Parts: sequence; structure tokens; C-alpha cells
Amino acid sequence: MTATTRSPAPVLECRDVTVRFGAVVAVNSVSVDVPPSTIIGLVGPNGAGKSTLFSVLSGLHRPNAGRVRFEGRDITGLPAARRARLGLARTFQRPEVFAGLTVREHIQLAYRVATRRRRIWTDMVTARGFRPADRAETEQVALLLDALNLGDLADRPVAGLSLGMLRLVEIARALATNPKVLLLDEPSSGLDDQETEQVVQVFRMAVERQGVSLLLVEHDVAMVMGLCSRIHVLDFGTKIGEGTPAEIRSNKAVRAAYLGDEGAIGRGPAEITVQPQAPEVVS
Ligand SMILES: Nc1ncnc2c1ncn2[C@@H]1O[C@H](COP(=O)(O)OP(=O)(O)O)[C@@H](O)[C@H]1O
Ligand SMILES: [Mg+2]
Repeated sequence: MTATTRSPAPVLECRDVTVRFGAVVAVNSVSVDVPPSTIIGLVGPNGAGKSTLFSVLSGLHRPNAGRVRFEGRDITGLPAARRARLGLARTFQRPEVFAGLTVREHIQLAYRVATRRRRIWTDMVTARGFRPADRAETEQVALLLDALNLGDLADRPVAGLSLGMLRLVEIARALATNPKVLLLDEPSSGLDDQETEQVVQVFRMAVERQGVSLLLVEHDVAMVMGLCSRIHVLDFGTKIGEGTPAEIRSNKAVRAAYLGDEGAIGRGPAEITVQPQAPEVVS
């Protein structure tokens, strides 16, 4: 972006958000802008406050101070479900799925919730199973299954899937709601290299074709550096750096603090290996 171009108004923004848990300041006066059709990174060591900030943005946690705005509207007090209807979706650090539903049904259900079809819950609980899909739904679901390489697993219940596959299902499901902003909490955690590459392609596609904005919490530094146009770095709840990947790479405070490894963020992405947290599946 050149100096003469005005930045587009952010689709999602938070201003001076603070969250305290007793004596712990989990998030300390943090501001983040998410412009339209961009990928913004949020990184920092474990306990830095990334997931807590996500909970504030998605409406699961009310901040002690600060505001959250979506398309200019103050949504600080709006419940999560209402935010989801505005076009704010998220995935969780630990995938949350319905064990008895198939991969396809998860995506269909998300699509139907987003397109405000009625009888969603009776669809799920009656023995008659799902109503047949219409053409638009069939196309959209097929597109997502294909993009995430889930076609072969489409009619399997998710109960038997690997964590990596569950993550792909979760991402497909989030995209099926046609969100304007998607908050992704460690999407590559538990994925192998091939699955990670798949996810990266899908993120690019979602931004380019659907115009989605992504806010990405991620331990995979190479992924963050490669995908994000701007990165925010948290440490102990406080933002210690913000900038383009190149600026973050040369930021001394970030290099000193990041994962306690002076050099970790300064080398070329290909040389960086940062292990994700060991993931667990919630039953
Ligand atoms: N529900 C909670 N109750 C008490 N402390 C919490 C809670 N959630 C998070 N914390 C604390 O807030 C800080 C930030 O945690 P978190 O947002 O999970 O960090 P990150 O996602 O960057 O690893 C940590 O010190 C964590 O222990
Ligand atoms: Mg976290």
C-alpha cells in the first residue's frame, strides 16, 4: 500500500482491550485492526493472551475495558451467536465437533445455520435425518469438500477422524457460514505438512475468492510470515510489536521475547521450526 492510498476501514477492530483474571492481566490495552480481504497474524508465546483476545472478539468473554467494532458498529456487548450472524466466525484451539454427524453434515449444518434455514435442530434430532440439500447448498458443500480434500471422507462420522482431519472439517464448516471475518486459533496445530499446505491454500482461496479476512493465531512462524500482511506480537498480554513480516523479523523487542529464542523469528522462514503445543481432542 502506498502512502497516498487511504487504508480501507477495518471490518473488525478492537481498541484498548484489557482482560483480567484476578491478578493476571491476560490482555493489556491491545488494539488490532482487521481490514477487508487481508490476513492478519497474532503471535506470541504461550500465555501471551492470544486466545483470550479471540474470546473477546468472538463474544465469549466480556473485556474489563476497551471496545470491539464490526463494520463500524460497536459489538462489545453483543453475544457470540449474534456476532456469528453478522459474519464473524471462529475456530477453536481444540476442535469442537458433533461425534455422530458426518463430515458432510457438519458443513451442511453450518451452511443451513448461515442461510437461516428453519428446522435445523429438528433435522439433527429426528430419525428422518437431514432434509435433502438444494442445488446452491450442494454446490457450496462440494466446493468446500474439494478445497479441503475431504471428499473421500465426506460420509464418514467425524468420531473416527484424526485431529488433523477434524481441523480441516472445522475450517470447512467455518467457511460454509460465508463469514466476513474468520478468527483461527492455531489452525495448523496437529496437522502434518501436507495438511498444513492444504490449509494455507484454502486460506488464500477464501481471501481471494470469498473476500474473507482472517485473523490468524499460529505457532507456525513460516506460515504466519508467508500469509500475513501484518503481524501483531503479544507477550504477557501486552503488544510488543506490530508490522509487516519484514518489520517483525527485524524488530529487536520481538526477537528478544519471542519464544525466548533470540534468533527464532529472524531467520528465513524455511529454517524456522517451532513446535505447536501438543493438541488434545475434546470429546
Ligand atoms: N479462564 C481463565 N481463567 C484464569 N486465567 C486465564 C483464563 N484464560 C486464560 N487465563 C490466563 O490468561 C493468560 C493468557 O492466556 P491465553 O489467552 O490462553 O494465552 P495464549 O492463547 O496466548 O496462549 C494466561 O496467563 C492464562 O493462564
Ligand atoms: Mg491459546
